[in-house]
Amino acid sequence: MNTLDAIKSRFRAVLSELTDDPDGLLAMIRPTQDDKFGDYQANCAMPLGKKLGKAPREIAADLAEKVDLADLCSVVEVAGPGFINLTVSAEHIQQQLAAALVDDRLGIAVTESPRTVVVDYSSPNVAKPMHVGHIRSTVIGDALARIHTFLGHKVITDNHLGDWGTQFGMIIYGYKHFVNQQSYQAEPVLELSRLYKFVRVLMDYQGARRKLPEVQETLDKQQQALERVKGTDTHDDKAKIKQQKKDINRLAEKIAMQQEQLQKLGSTIASLESDAALLDTARQHESVEQEVLSETVKLHAGDSENRALWDEFLPYCLDDINRIYKRLNVQFDHTHGESFYHDQLADVVEQFMSGGIAEENDGAICVFMEGYDAPMIIRKKDGAYLYPTTDLATIQYRIKEWKADTMLYVVDHRQGDHFDKLFDAARLWGYTDVEMTHVSFGTVLGDDGKPFKTRAGDTVGLEGLLDEAESRALDIATQQNPDLDPDRQQVIGRVVGIGALKYADLSQNRSSDYKFSYDKMLALRGNTATYLQYANARVHGILRNLDVTADKLREQPVPFVLDEPVERQLALKLLQFDQALDDVLVEYKPNLLCNYLFDLAQLFARFFDQCSVRDASSQSLQASRLQLCDLTARSLSKGLELLGIDSLERI
Ligand code: ARG
Repeated sequence: MNTLDAIKSRFRAVLSELTDDPDGLLAMIRPTQDDKFGDYQANCAMPLGKKLGKAPREIAADLAEKVDLADLCSVVEVAGPGFINLTVSAEHIQQQLAAALVDDRLGIAVTESPRTVVVDYSSPNVAKPMHVGHIRSTVIGDALARIHTFLGHKVITDNHLGDWGTQFGMIIYGYKHFVNQQSYQAEPVLELSRLYKFVRVLMDYQGARRKLPEVQETLDKQQQALERVKGTDTHDDKAKIKQQKKDINRLAEKIAMQQEQLQKLGSTIASLESDAALLDTARQHESVEQEVLSETVKLHAGDSENRALWDEFLPYCLDDINRIYKRLNVQFDHTHGESFYHDQLADVVEQFMSGGIAEENDGAICVFMEGYDAPMIIRKKDGAYLYPTTDLATIQYRIKEWKADTMLYVVDHRQGDHFDKLFDAARLWGYTDVEMTHVSFGTVLGDDGKPFKTRAGDTVGLEGLLDEAESRALDIATQQNPDLDPDRQQVIGRVVGIGALKYADLSQNRSSDYKFSYDKMLALRGNTATYLQYANARVHGILRNLDVTADKLREQPVPFVLDEPVERQLALKLLQFDQALDDVLVEYKPNLLCNYLFDLAQLFARFFDQCSVRDASSQSLQASRLQLCDLTARSLSKGLELLGIDSLERI
């Protein structure tokens, strides 16, 4: 039983008599920052005093007397202007810990109100290699799925692959013109990804040539505008001077951006043209952009040749991503990519039209909604459907077929506008009782604070990232323990390396960008998976040294002794695990679980420093401390497991 929830429910009984809306007040009961104020503090007397026109201290005293906390708290005291400080009683802690000790779930209850939660995550556009940007969605989504499941919700995970977009037009075009059959037979995935990249290069070149004059023209105009502004006479008018400065800055900024773009386009062109053979090919494929589009349109229209190629390519693409999922230990219940919804799109548009939610505008079918500059287009003028159309069909499917109560979309923040519109449109369509949340996240940055790229400026492949993390973890493990046998080395490299990579991501507040650093993520100190994994292994080492197993502890449990302050702190922390999990689900923030585990591990280190287990003054004290060790190890490994991270009893 979650202690904070228990306290709140006791307060609820009393507050309900004083107000119609106790929830806001109950949210003001929180753990204290400093234990000289007890373990929890209730600050609800202040607003209540205002509302009832009484002195908060008086109200606090009244509440403290009426709330029945006898079995939970040993101290309930009014302090300051009307705080109620609560100290959890030793008996309560002991009793809860004793229950957790013999429970596989560590005393954490399943929810009383289970929901059906669809988690849409990872969802890469296949046919191009997965890159560093895919790590975030994959690990955050996986952790949220695991935590919901553990808490008793019905979870359905779905990998909404981009398996129907232009990238297939690109590899179909590439295959038709440039395939090396020998390489394709030998290593299809490699050859397809080569074709993808090759066509990308050709398209970028043509695109750059097309855009260059436009960008140059805009730049010329901006430069002229700048000259004009500079030449304007301000007649020494302060306001005008100020305005002129502003305009100059604004234009200078625009010009700088335009120049940067011009330079990029120029170097794209120059780099292709420096290769004579490539230039020759590019000249023969001048209309590559339109051709790729038309291959895509043919695929969507059911052209048999392109459909057969798609059927042939897709399994290879899936093999490629599945290899990565296997290394990350991530599984999905469903992989319904965009192609899965293709047949439903016409009907979706039809429903929107007949329901009067969409209208035709210049040949396109649009949903106009309040609060947005641009409408959501669900069918283009040429009849093509778009990303939002597929997503609408997906919503309908998940609600009808899976009876979803909640749909979480773990997708990067740049798609925020798409999801805002999508959810609003779905509500107009009638799906008003379903929770739809964009669990958005920031960008992975390199050392320079810019989006993480290779030296050559390409995106960083996910596979190489995993290899590097594993090999660095292995180096650390062999340094720590040079005599490790080679099989163990492999296991440790994998568990520590992959764990570090996942945790580096999960421990960040997901809405922020973060800097990718192998050194930081594998540090033995600090808020890292490595620190937690070593802490867990260390506890197991203690148990092993004293020849204790978890089973033995369970067979003959002893009462917990919590006389030392740090013993009591550790005990209380252990009991806050369920609170940490609940907190994660409020705003879908796995970093709150990371913070909890880090606090727990640090507290354990202090406990272990101050309270000898081996030389405890009595056998019963030693047994109590061993029980604390066992609960710590189990909480750490359970917490890591819920983050999708393995732990080891020995490193
Ligand atoms: N494939 C998309 C991309 O890579 C992400 C899909 C996210 N899920 C969704 N239902 N839209 O940008």
